[in-house]
Amino acid sequence: MLAVVLSLLVFVGVTWAQYSPDWTSLDSRPLPSWYDDAKVGIFIHWGVFSVPAFGSEWFWWHWQGQKPPDQKCVSFMKQNYPPGFSYPEFAPDFHAQSFDPEKWADLFQASGAKYVVLTAKHHEGFTNWGSAHSWNWNSVDTGPHRDLVGDLGEAVRRRSLHYGLYNSLYEWFHPLYLKDKQNGFKTQEFVMNKLLPELRDMILRYRPEVIWSDGDWEAPDTYWNSTGFLAWLYNESPVKDTVVTNDRWGAGCACKHGGYYNCRDKYTPGQLPKHKWEKCTSVDTLSWGYRRNMEISELMDAPSIIEDLVSTVALGGNYLLNVGPTPYGTIPAVFQERLRGVGAWLKVNGEAIYASKPWRVQHENSTATVWYTAKDNVVFAVITGKSVSIDLQLLAPRPSATTKVTLLGSPLPLNWFPSDPSGITVVLPKQYFIGHPQAFTLKLEGFQ
Ligand SMILES: *[C@@H]1O[C@H](CO)[C@@H](O)[C@H](O)[C@H]1NC(C)=O
Ligand SMILES: *[C@@H]1O[C@H](CO)[C@@H](O)[C@H](O)[C@H]1NC(C)=O
Repeated sequence: MLAVVLSLLVFVGVTWAQYSPDWTSLDSRPLPSWYDDAKVGIFIHWGVFSVPAFGSEWFWWHWQGQKPPDQKCVSFMKQNYPPGFSYPEFAPDFHAQSFDPEKWADLFQASGAKYVVLTAKHHEGFTNWGSAHSWNWNSVDTGPHRDLVGDLGEAVRRRSLHYGLYNSLYEWFHPLYLKDKQNGFKTQEFVMNKLLPELRDMILRYRPEVIWSDGDWEAPDTYWNSTGFLAWLYNESPVKDTVVTNDRWGAGCACKHGGYYNCRDKYTPGQLPKHKWEKCTSVDTLSWGYRRNMEISELMDAPSIIEDLVSTVALGGNYLLNVGPTPYGTIPAVFQERLRGVGAWLKVNGEAIYASKPWRVQHENSTATVWYTAKDNVVFAVITGKSVSIDLQLLAPRPSATTKVTLLGSPLPLNWFPSDPSGITVVLPKQYFIGHPQAFTLKLEGFQ
């Protein structure tokens, strides 16, 4: 009888509140497995900031928030806009008239990404959907007059990619937020009346599988009610079984609490971390949002994106690569070319990336720069740097009687011999020798 009651209690507990609103409980939630398998995502920073398209998506803050203001932003406004022009007046020029979500989704699919994360709301507070809590400061009431979040989501999901949404907790200039801030975050008017109702609506409407939280750092997680929100997300929301979140849930949370860890923007650990993580980075090294004056020399080229992606995955991370669309709703051709380049590489080498796990050795410098990944009983050695010799030495793999080495994208096995003092030496085909422009992968079977 006691056992029945106990199991009933456990059953009820599991059904109703598996996670309690505290970090010990929330941090114990296993990450839904789709996320680690996906490895590659596309990040999109798009909003009213894409209209001035000057400096970065932080334009409003640099112009009118920080003290003293950024003089470059001040003179940009003086030279191009009438006196007294205010930031919200940019919104009507966020037309998105050429926005074709099917084209975007085709591009993301061609990039090899398995998930897409769009800024539903950045620090400026403008929502890319018709939020009832963001009156007149959203993409349906003004600008595109369109549900950008919904339209992109449908196109992305039609291609079986996962869809995630970026949401900034704070809003630079929201009056309720500024009031709470003035009260030392002892009041929660912004959180209770704006942030949380809006965030719940967003999740109920669009069912995002990633909540990419940001803008948390000015206040503690208790101000944001983060643990209460996450307990609802994990226990009751319609995405409770599939959603993943990051670690930006209040000052001090990054790299410590939440789902996977972003730590800092563009964070790269030196060695294999214990916890699942994601590197977010941007093709435009100077901005996440579109900049009208970007220069080719300021962009990552395809080989450096691929090397960054490979080293991230070898160290157990996911790679979230950002592009900034224009206010017209187009993705600059140079970004398209980068994404398609990454996709072409993944088409040949994806076996070493998707659903892979870190190997016992992640990285070595031998006669080339080598990053290892593993899947089932297969080890992959991705050579990202230039090989300095036609005989490529791999130090870590221990060969056996069944050892076989092949090059991904080519059917023929390669010759190899045991090398001294350890590992193997692989004889590369001529074209993979010195000067090969892009990373290539050796598939190692029958190794330890
Ligand atoms: C805030 O969090 C608490 C639990 O920590 C929860 O009971 C409450 O419902 C949350 N409030 C909102 C508006 O989400
Ligand atoms: C490989 O070489 C690079 C550049 O010289 C260095 O930063 C890195 O620490 C080396 N890694 C290993 C595992 O030796």
